[in-house]
Amino acid sequence: MTAHLVEFRVGPAADLPVGEGRAYAAGATMVAVFRLRDGSLRAVSAVCPHAGGPIADGIADSAVVICPMHQHVFDLATGCSKTGQPPLAVYPVRVDDEGELVVGLPD
Ligand code: FES
Repeated sequence: MTAHLVEFRVGPAADLPVGEGRAYAAGATMVAVFRLRDGSLRAVSAVCPHAGGPIADGIADSAVVICPMHQHVFDLATGCSKTGQPPLAVYPVRVDDEGELVVGLPD
C-alpha cells in the first residue's frame, strides 16, 4: 500500500535556477527543492538531521547535497546519508501545467 500524499504548490519553478536549491513551506513542513544541472528536480527535508542546518543552502551535484553547516553528505534520491547521519526525508516533486512547483507530502 502506498502512503497517501497531499500536494502543495510552493512557488514558480522559473524562480529556481539550475544548479541551486531553495527552501519552501509546504503546509507546516519546510522542504528544500533542488533543480539539478540536467534540469530534474529533487525535494528533501529542508532541515539537516545532524544539527538542523539549512539543506537548501547546501552544494548539490547530480546525486548528492552537502550540508553547509558541517559538510555531511546526503543522497538526493534516497535521502540516505553517505557520512553516517540519519536520513533526510525525500518527497515527490513536479511542475504543474501552470509552471508551479508541486511537492507531495505524506498525509
Ligand atoms: S547541521 Fe548539517 S551537517 Fe551539521
